[in-house]
Amino acid sequence: MCGIVGILGKADVAGQLVDALKRLEYRGYDSAGVATLIDGGLVSRRAEGKLRNLEAKLEQSPLAGTSGIGHTRWATHGAPSVRNAHPHATTRVAVVHNGIIENFLELRAEVEARGCRLESDTDTEVVAHLITLDLQAGKTPREAVAATLHRLKGAFSFAILFAGEDDLMIGARRGSPLAVGHGDGEMYLGSDAIALAPFTDRITYLEEGDWAVLTRRGVEIFDENDRPVERRETATSAAATLVDKGNFRHFMAKEIHEQPEVLGHTLSRYLDLTQSKTVLPKGAEFDFASCERLVISACGTAYYAGLIGKYWFETIARLPVDIDIASEFRYREVPVKAGDLALFVSQSGETADTLASLRYCKAQGMKIGAVVNVPESTIAREADFVFPTIAGREIGVASTKAFVCQLAVLASLAVHAGRVRGTISDEREAELVRMLAEIPAYAVKALRHEVEVEQLAQPLSKSQHVLYLGRGTSFPLAMEGALKLKEISYIHAEGYAAGELKHGPIALIDETMPVVIVAPYDGVFEKTVSNMQEVAARGGRIILITDQRGAEESGLQAWKTIVLPDVPAFIAPIVHAIPVQLLAYHTAVFMGTDVDQPRNLAKSVTVE
Ligand code: F6R
Repeated sequence: MCGIVGILGKADVAGQLVDALKRLEYRGYDSAGVATLIDGGLVSRRAEGKLRNLEAKLEQSPLAGTSGIGHTRWATHGAPSVRNAHPHATTRVAVVHNGIIENFLELRAEVEARGCRLESDTDTEVVAHLITLDLQAGKTPREAVAATLHRLKGAFSFAILFAGEDDLMIGARRGSPLAVGHGDGEMYLGSDAIALAPFTDRITYLEEGDWAVLTRRGVEIFDENDRPVERRETATSAAATLVDKGNFRHFMAKEIHEQPEVLGHTLSRYLDLTQSKTVLPKGAEFDFASCERLVISACGTAYYAGLIGKYWFETIARLPVDIDIASEFRYREVPVKAGDLALFVSQSGETADTLASLRYCKAQGMKIGAVVNVPESTIAREADFVFPTIAGREIGVASTKAFVCQLAVLASLAVHAGRVRGTISDEREAELVRMLAEIPAYAVKALRHEVEVEQLAQPLSKSQHVLYLGRGTSFPLAMEGALKLKEISYIHAEGYAAGELKHGPIALIDETMPVVIVAPYDGVFEKTVSNMQEVAARGGRIILITDQRGAEESGLQAWKTIVLPDVPAFIAPIVHAIPVQLLAYHTAVFMGTDVDQPRNLAKSVTVE
């Protein structure tokens, strides 16, 4: 989940490399580096931490060279440090790498036995040495790379530059995405098209196992068996401008506030308001009536969206759903039925575990659906049916607007499935469609509670632990709330089904423990109130997120209550997600953490 870029340019490329890396910083920000060719020799600059540290280094000691590669790192092998920052180079090659070489220990022992001295703890440096050993043995650069690729196990992508070869760069893709950009007398490599957007919109995506030899005149592509192959050039839709924060202090805040708009964009793809019906996007006309069981798999926030989707598919469409975290699903050898639908939910469309689960289901003959935000992503490209979220580019590492759009898509699909499976009438569909159509307006109203939520940040920031509780669709939302809080504020938080409280976590409750209870006035509200009483009786500090009816009916004095407008229970998790996100955001801001790029995380997780 590092970001890689390579340029064969006409003028000095260091500035362009940094420009592209800025667009890739979402993939990791532990360290960054660039290498160029100067008079045939490889020269690099590397810095620990954010990209601005590399920029400062380049200002102090600029780098010439019209061919170069760059990297922004999310540490896997070796601590984040200059020594472990990419590019990793010998006198013959410089390599930037995304992914993990699984047989690195064995390869490391081999190159050391052959006299190489390694300077870092990374798996990448071993690759540089393997290629170098082959070059020293008389192989050409492409022969040396091909031979090395055959020796590697794992998932990776590379960009490789060679000393003395100003018009040559080699890229390879196995398990991690890599795109070739076509310029006018210039050529590019990048982890995604967005990185290359300032330079070109003509992109060729490498397929699994491909490797590519670039010169300024063009590209030759080879498959995993080293046979020349043709891959299509496409015009990318990635926006050329670097997304900015507008008037907001953080991307996360901007993205939270964009939710009414992006929910509207997303729902417009799934609702036909003139007919009061749900519609499926063109090319994604899966017949839900033919499906006996739905499989859903995803990671993190996207998994919680899928979990809420399960409640909707089962109650509205009477369609049984098996759902699992992708990192578990992929190795569980789940028995599935060919022809049934497997649905993968992913903002980036590149998450390694989700992709592996997709491939498992595909191999079992299932139909593959993808709820994705990046239409060019690998998951979108490998799916039979793409159900897009139109959230726009999400920069904040903590997912917000993509999450609510995933929910909007899953809710619409559940209603559609209900109609075609005959579990709801046309009238009920029309009623549910009207509710879905009102989501953007409810989201606007929910955002108006920001100041109230912000006032909770200061007391919450004093806590070491926070418990989140919910029932029904509010249960996954409670887990999402806890994830949001812990990932950006570093306060330990857990989300529980409210009914589970008495089976263990209640032991944690005392007057120091804040308990966030998400409880819209829905069919399980009274049950949640009973659990609230249990918390109150033990002195827990309740932060209740509810609606007007819930506030009236709870009959309970919470420590703090956020009262949203009454909202139909069906769409409540989408609307109630907003105060939950705001609570995490403002707590993190109050604590002064790096909200958009929290420690140890990356936006796109392309390793296991
Ligand atoms: C948390 C968060 C992550 C992602 C997860 C899956 O805020 O963003 O938990 O949801 O890494 O990523 P995607 O959706 O890109 O597959």
